[in-house]
Amino acid sequence: MPSSDAPAHEIVPADEQTPELLAQCLQMRVAVFIEEQKFSMDDEIDKYDTPGKSTHLLLRLVPSLEPIGTIRIVHLSATEKKIGRLCVLKDYRNFKFGKDLMLAAHDYLLSRQADRGSAEAGPSLTVSLHSQIYVKGFYAKCGYEEVGQEFDEDGAPHQKMVRHLSAQ
Ligand SMILES: CC(C)(COP(=O)(O)OP(=O)(O)OC[C@H]1O[C@@H](n2cnc3c(N)ncnc32)[C@H](O)[C@@H]1OP(=O)(O)O)[C@@H](O)C(=O)NCCC(=O)NCCS
Repeated sequence: MPSSDAPAHEIVPADEQTPELLAQCLQMRVAVFIEEQKFSMDDEIDKYDTPGKSTHLLLRLVPSLEPIGTIRIVHLSATEKKIGRLCVLKDYRNFKFGKDLMLAAHDYLLSRQADRGSAEAGPSLTVSLHSQIYVKGFYAKCGYEEVGQEFDEDGAPHQKMVRHLSAQ
């Protein structure tokens, strides 16, 4: 749940069918990962940003519709998903928006799986992510567990973390 003093907001899905929303998701990623954290644009935009590979969620204020954060869900297979590119603009951190985006991603995945029927997708989803080291504690609070050793990704140390999601 978002913090009670968080400004009014909503989380909406974005993909190639909603190019304006998709562009706003990218705008958030540029502000945080390129301008603030100094990753390169070449690394930021990857193979999962091609049409059909991912669903993005956009966090925005209401009623202004000002975008303030995003998260990307990569569909690796029917049962294997990868979460990433999670960011909240600096001025809006510590309102539980990050956690809210993670919960929204989980809800999105479970409802999509339910729509497809468990016969195709199976009863459980495996969700992985590559956490920057400083933020491992955040993902642990979202139910993720560390798997394997730290590794370099895009010039910074990361840790693979995994969580199993099930509607039951
Ligand atoms: C990571 C990020 C999305 C967290 O968003 P946020 O809205 O500030 O976090 P929340 O308010 O939802 O925090 C939820 C909980 O995680 C904790 N938390 C937040 N950041 C944390 C961190 N770096 N380490 C450990 N715990 C953290 C909070 O204290 C809170 O704990 P509580 O529920 O016990 O009170 C945000 O800091 C951000 O955008 N960072 C820059 C981009 C980035 O590094 N993304 C991760 C890429 S791997």
